[in-house]
Amino acid sequence: MPASPRAPGVVSPRAPATGPSALHPLLGVVLDALRDGAVARGGPLPHGGPEAVAVRVGAAVGEAFPLRGTGAEEALTTLVRTLAEGAADPADPRCAAHLHTPPLALAAAADLAACALNPSLDSWDQAPAAAELEALVTRALAAEFWPGGDALVTSGGTESNQLALLLARERHGSVQLAQGANAHHSLSRAAWLLGLPEPVTVPAPSGTLDLAALDEALTDLHRPVLVAATAGTTDSGAVDPLPEIAALCARHGAELHVDAAYGGPLIFSDTHRAKLRGLEHAQSVTLDLHKLGWQPVAAGLLAVPDPARLAPLAHTADYLNADDDTEAGLPDLLGRSLRTTRRPDVLKIAVTLRALGRTGLAALVDRTVALARTFADLVEEHPHLDLYERPAISTVLFRPTGATDDEVAGIRRALLTEGRAVLGRARADGRLWLKATLLNPHTTTGDLAQLLKTVEGSTPR
Ligand SMILES: Cc1ncc(COP(=O)(O)O)c(C=O)c1O
Repeated sequence: MPASPRAPGVVSPRAPATGPSALHPLLGVVLDALRDGAVARGGPLPHGGPEAVAVRVGAAVGEAFPLRGTGAEEALTTLVRTLAEGAADPADPRCAAHLHTPPLALAAAADLAACALNPSLDSWDQAPAAAELEALVTRALAAEFWPGGDALVTSGGTESNQLALLLARERHGSVQLAQGANAHHSLSRAAWLLGLPEPVTVPAPSGTLDLAALDEALTDLHRPVLVAATAGTTDSGAVDPLPEIAALCARHGAELHVDAAYGGPLIFSDTHRAKLRGLEHAQSVTLDLHKLGWQPVAAGLLAVPDPARLAPLAHTADYLNADDDTEAGLPDLLGRSLRTTRRPDVLKIAVTLRALGRTGLAALVDRTVALARTFADLVEEHPHLDLYERPAISTVLFRPTGATDDEVAGIRRALLTEGRAVLGRARADGRLWLKATLLNPHTTTGDLAQLLKTVEGSTPR
């Protein structure tokens, strides 16, 4: 039967191409769309707030799932440009609300390769080299904390904290979590998810866990306890007094988990490593390289001092890690995550570690910490701004002198709606503060001064 002629404008019904060679011509399309979207945005985030963004996205997308496709080039151009135009761009120095990092180009390029190859780390026959690379890199990173340690790659601090609590529960049958009032919300959520007793919250009135209150709490608690300390709090970047907390844990027979999702990369820096002293006493450490490690999401790790600590995660599914395959020497990957299909996030991490080395990463950490100190200086020198405290890592809390909490919240929202700056908010000292989480090592002192001018411009007189 002769083929029926195709209607004009209908895209070829052949399956779209796959594989790296088909990717090459699309890269230029994507890069152009990223550039055009950023130019159209013209600032750190889109102006007009959620309604205006929804209107622009709706108009650009039209029908999200059309009957007939528009083809790769049109779809990439339209949607990548739309996403870029409506992005909060962490590479813009005025985008400083969250632990939302500007990703290194080399890490993004590596992630593209990971997508193109698509290994899945749930069985060796889907990821032969990726499995080995992950084993090498996780051991190398864990060795920064303990010789002979190991680490799991996770989707981020939330999953790492969950796994830490799960491993503690498996060691003891049940475990009582004791956490600072400054701890990340994912810890109490993990306790809820795992059916553990309600966590005991230890006050942290000055931003770090109060030692006398922890001592008292541990004296009162008699079941197995896991104390969760934080190295780099979400609100202010404060680092809990880890040596003293570790000593209290040892005295009371409690175990220690350190959530170093933010502060963990200080370990790479000769200048700042000492802030993590005491962390070596932990049973587990959360570390996120998609924060102070400049990786595209996701690049989380849970590190442990001894690979045997991970044994409770062992699990068998005949189609992935049959006993006879394991006995025959095929690496068993299923026990390295609670996930099954798992992307090779390790590739971008491996490329970054190799390309920059420890000294290169340390230089980025040092520069970013120095930037926060400069920003704090500028706030202190400013006649109409108050600084909460000198930054411990790269977070600076500040507020206009004499402003009410409502005014502080209003400034943040006005800057967001006008698309002029993305600042966070944090409560400290019973008051609401503007929060600048600086993660872009390329930001200049001039950029920081400009950011303060922008805040000044939105401050009610
Ligand atoms: C201290 C801390 N722990 C854990 C997390 C959770 O990390 P993720 O968002 O990667 O799950 C965060 C996130 O900001 C954090 O600040």
